[in-house]
Amino acid sequence: MSYYKRHLFICTNTREDGVCCQQHDAREKRDAVKKYAKHAGLTGQGKIRVNIAGCLDRCDEGPIAVVYPDAVWYRYQSVEDLQEIVDNHLVGGEIVKRLQI
Ligand code: FES
Repeated sequence: MSYYKRHLFICTNTREDGVCCQQHDAREKRDAVKKYAKHAGLTGQGKIRVNIAGCLDRCDEGPIAVVYPDAVWYRYQSVEDLQEIVDNHLVGGEIVKRLQI
């Protein structure tokens, strides 16, 4: 069994020369959803983890997040979108189709 059930990687990269996820306040949104998951008791061994990621090379489609081990990619807009991904996909195993790319 893997240490974590699922990981959510959220790109928080800044690029001076073009479009990037941090233009959408990705870092602040990642911090908020990480707090949400922790306070809800969803994180830790055998559960889930929310991580920062560097550039995932899909900058034009951002802001970007990806769930592993499922390799499902998302474009989100809000902290609420990320919370929905955590609740429905990371915990519940259901892909959030409306945000999937
Ligand atoms: S800056 Fe986020 S995918 Fe490149």
